[in-house]
Amino acid sequence: MKRVFSGFQPTGELHIGNYLGAMVNYIALGEQLGQNAIFCIVDYHAPTNPAAYDKDLLAQRTFEAALVNIAAGLDPNKVILFVQSHVAEHTELAWIFATQTPYGDLTRMTQFKDKAAKLVSVPAGLLMYPVLMAADILLYKADTVPVGEDQTQHLELTREIARRWNQTYGETFPEPQVYLNPHAPRVPGIDGKAKMSKSVGNTIGLLEDEESIWAKIRTMPDDPARIRLSDPGDPERSVVFKFLQYFAPPELVQVLQEEYRRRGIGTLVVKQILMQEMMKTLRPIRERAAELKAKPEQVLDALEDGATKARRIAQATMEEVREKFGLLRPKRQQTPLDLRAALR
Ligand code: TYM
Repeated sequence: MKRVFSGFQPTGELHIGNYLGAMVNYIALGEQLGQNAIFCIVDYHAPTNPAAYDKDLLAQRTFEAALVNIAAGLDPNKVILFVQSHVAEHTELAWIFATQTPYGDLTRMTQFKDKAAKLVSVPAGLLMYPVLMAADILLYKADTVPVGEDQTQHLELTREIARRWNQTYGETFPEPQVYLNPHAPRVPGIDGKAKMSKSVGNTIGLLEDEESIWAKIRTMPDDPARIRLSDPGDPERSVVFKFLQYFAPPELVQVLQEEYRRRGIGTLVVKQILMQEMMKTLRPIRERAAELKAKPEQVLDALEDGATKARRIAQATMEEVREKFGLLRPKRQQTPLDLRAALR
């Protein structure tokens, strides 16, 4: 693992699915790799879904997405954290890749099919989304991409784009690998069914009110076969236990599982413990977030610094890409000899 890249959309409040599936790994990899861990708030991805995009909220949400990641423990002084639209090379490389990517590769993407099915008018950008994602990653020649399981198909396409480019234009990009959190590759929604996702409305937000979180936990479905306290419960069938495993120490989970199986404990108690354990993780994040909200310039400065560092890497890659792709370089970047060769 030499260089890590990942991105997250500024589409409203980040939730515990984002945290467990991706952010926990960003933080750990950031500690390990420093400036070779690059994280990006992908604001150009957000408008591809008209249902989630609002021009009056995009800037605010971009800022908050950065803030929440810093509050959760991502250290912008160690890693590179920046906003996608601040580094113009992302869209430039995406266009070049778009010319090299078969249309059929994009129409078969599951996320495209799912999202497009819900729209009356499908923006071309939604189809192009995975091409921009490949550009995000390959611009930094990243070999490792921490994401949730829902992104694995997009990563497969990124590898294909890299492979095809390397075959045609010479070895340039690594074929990046997915890096999942083995404990939480796909966090379910609070109903225990679909993946936790803002668009489904089944999330627990990292900064959500405690009262509102408790209301959600209190009504979480339990083992459907357990009707009375005197019925034995099966923790494997209970969403409450699924979430407990994410937040509570394994010894505590084990004790509660045994009690639950032998009818020694009711679901409400398990839910109360889940709430307590979850808040142990969330409370420090929201405290730090409140501090950062009072000093927004700290976050903005970190993003500016991040963009400067990211741009340096991106510009070097793009020089190589433009050259290999066969573009005529501007006169000021050429010696007369190069120019004659290019025009021959
Ligand atoms: P996004 O913004 O939807 O989600 C950000 C990250 O959170 C993960 N995630 C989850 N993991 C486990 N369980 C869940 N319920 C869950 N919900 C979200 C996502 O897998 C993701 O890692 N296409 C990307 C953004 C992107 C990107 C990139 C990622 C753009 N360019 C380049 C990596 C590299 C997305 O929409 O993530």
